Order: sequence, then structure tokens, then C-alpha cells
Amino acid sequence: MKESMALEDASVLPTYEKFPFVLDRGEGCWVWDEDGNKYLDLYGGHAVAAIGHSPVEVTAAITKQSAKLLFYSNLVYLKVRAEAAKALVDFCGEKGSQVFFCNSGAEANENAMRIARCVTNKKNVVCAEGGFHGRTAGAIAATGYKYRKGMSGLGADMIHVPFGDLAAAEQALQNDAAAFLLEPIQSVQGATTASSEYLQGLEALCKKSGALLIFDEVQTGLGRVGAPSARHAFGARPHLQTFAKALASGVPAGAVLATPEVSALVKPGALGSTFGGGPLASVAISATIKAIIDKKLTENAAEMEDLIRSTFKFPQIAEIRGRGLLLGLVLDRPSKAVRDALLAKKILVGGADDKNVIRLLPPLTVGPAEIGLLRAALEEIFASEAVAA
Ligand SMILES: Cc1ncc(COP(=O)(O)O)c(C=O)c1O
Repeated sequence: MKESMALEDASVLPTYEKFPFVLDRGEGCWVWDEDGNKYLDLYGGHAVAAIGHSPVEVTAAITKQSAKLLFYSNLVYLKVRAEAAKALVDFCGEKGSQVFFCNSGAEANENAMRIARCVTNKKNVVCAEGGFHGRTAGAIAATGYKYRKGMSGLGADMIHVPFGDLAAAEQALQNDAAAFLLEPIQSVQGATTASSEYLQGLEALCKKSGALLIFDEVQTGLGRVGAPSARHAFGARPHLQTFAKALASGVPAGAVLATPEVSALVKPGALGSTFGGGPLASVAISATIKAIIDKKLTENAAEMEDLIRSTFKFPQIAEIRGRGLLLGLVLDRPSKAVRDALLAKKILVGGADDKNVIRLLPPLTVGPAEIGLLRAALEEIFASEAVAA
């Protein structure tokens, strides 16, 4: 393992804090390192492995497709692209919704903001403080200040308002606003969760001002929140939803889903992407959504949330934020030592900008047995004196 780590450290920019092992393979909720050590992955490959690691449904589909036609761009019709778009519309949208495909979450947000500016002919985007929307220029300008360090000249057309504050939103929307963009659950921040009233209030305010409401569903989409998307979970109808991460189970893919009335206003040439909606991503998207539906993973996410909420009754856990399997365990202390102790027990979890939070983003296939392993590990860790309060 040491050799592979040294090679990567020598040749890849050190922009990430990494788990201290070299990953070799994965299956379901489990991953193995080069030395054969097995880890329970409750971080889900960064919220990507929604239907589990290396799911056979997807690997079989991309193997078959790659032998048939590896790639052609949007200049041709592709049956597999049409099927992927229909699957996303049917699962997360509504009749008449349409899709723009791209390759990542940041791109999906860039394109959603572009659509909003084009169709409203307005300039500014209002964003909720604490959100994370990606690392490209527009997406990072919409993101919280911490991530903009080292980037200048951004954000002149972004207005940041406090998350949850409808009065501030109403005021900002008067300022030539094309859109209001937010994560319904601010995952990176620490699974900070909007109320239904806030999201429904934003829907009403956007309707009044003529701005488009954009939900960044890069983490909340595709069944993770115990509903097909945050739109369903919170009962609020955004004009645009953005997806990536779990969308194609690890084949790079992003998408913007537009309501029928917005779709009708998007003109030819408005957007473009060479690789977006390519055949490999398309078959992976269709296979992923089919597996989420067939295996009732949305329902499982809701059940596992209930299990966690009802059995993780530790005094050290002050609060459990989030929905479904996008959860933040808020500790009564910084979470780093506990996360390290879990890693020593070969359980992978995430941190967050809120230092007290342990983030859980497991595959939606996770079951009571794996949740039980986490619970038992936490019980042992909290009981041990090794973790300083
Ligand atoms: C909510 C949210 N939006 C957008 C992004 C950016 O996605 P990508 O890294 O695919 O560009 C992320 C990535 O973590 C995210 O969590």
C-alpha cells in the first residue's frame, strides 16, 4: 500500500485530505484496501454509491454499451439517452419535465443558473449561506465564502442570504434576481435541514418575483432522503433541480431537470456539453434509477433513518440532522477523534464544516446489520476513555 500512496502523493496535487489506505475494490456497502482489509463504507464513496459499490446492474450495462457504441455526442439521437432522460423525469420530475445532461454537480448548477438567467432575462442569483454547489466559477461563487479563498473577481452577481430566513430572501429577490439556489439539506455544512415551510415559502416568493427556484439535489436526489427527491420530501416545487453524484453510480454524470413551463422557454444553442448524455452515462443512469425503484431503496432509506433515530440514543449525540440516509450526527464535541476511532474499527464516515458533525451518506442498500455495527462501534468508542470530551 505504501508504494501506491507514495506514487499518488508524488504525482497528484495534495488538494484532498484522504483516508490512509489504498482502495482496491468494493461491493455493496463494503470496500477492501490493497492489503485485503475490509471497511464498512457509511460515506458511500462520497454519496455516489447509492445502489452500492460496483453494482452488477451498472457494470453489466456499461460493459455491454461500451462494446456497442462507446461515445457519440448530442449531435445524434441516442435511444439510451432518451431512456435515461425519461427515467429521471418519471422518478424525480413531473409529466412534461425535460432534462439537460452534463458531467458533474458543479456543471449542473452552472447550467441551472444559466437557464434561469436566459429565461428571466435577469442577472443576480440569490443563494443561501452555508451551501455548497461545486468548484467551477459560478458554482463556487454561489458557495459559502470559505471555499472561495484564492479566487478573485467572483460573486458580483450573487446575493447571499441566511439559510431559513424568508424575509431576507424576499428582499434579495427584488434585486434583479433570476433565481434562488439552495441545497434543501446543506450536506457539507453539516446536514443542516430546511423546513418545509421555508422551501414552500421560497416557492411562493419566487413565483411572486418571477425568479426561478433551483434545488441543488446533487446529494438529496435519487432516493437518498427517503423520497425520490427533496422536492417530494419537502412538498415544494422548484423550477429546476440539479443532480449528479449517485445519478450514474460513479460514471461521471450530471443533470438539470426543468419543469414543463421552464423547458418550453429553453432555446436551441442555449446550453451544450460534449460528454453530457453520452451512451455510457446514459445506460448507467437508467440502470441506477431502475435499481433504486426495483429494490425499494427510497423506502429503505426512510426505514434506516427511523432505525438510526430510534436506536442512537447516546448522551454524546446532541441532535440528528437530515433526512433518510443523508444524516448528521451532531456530537457534544468535535467529531474528529470519534471519526478516527471509527476508522480504526474499519468504519468509514464523513466530517462536515460543522466540526461536531459525523456525516452518514451510506449506500441506500444499507441494512439493520450494518447500522447495528455502527451503533455498537459508537457505544464502545463513547464508553472508552480514549476520546477526550
Ligand atoms: C450539494 C452539492 N452540490 C454540488 C456539488 C459539486 O458536485 P461535483 O463535485 O460533481 O462538481 C457537490 C459536491 O460535493 C455537492 O455536495
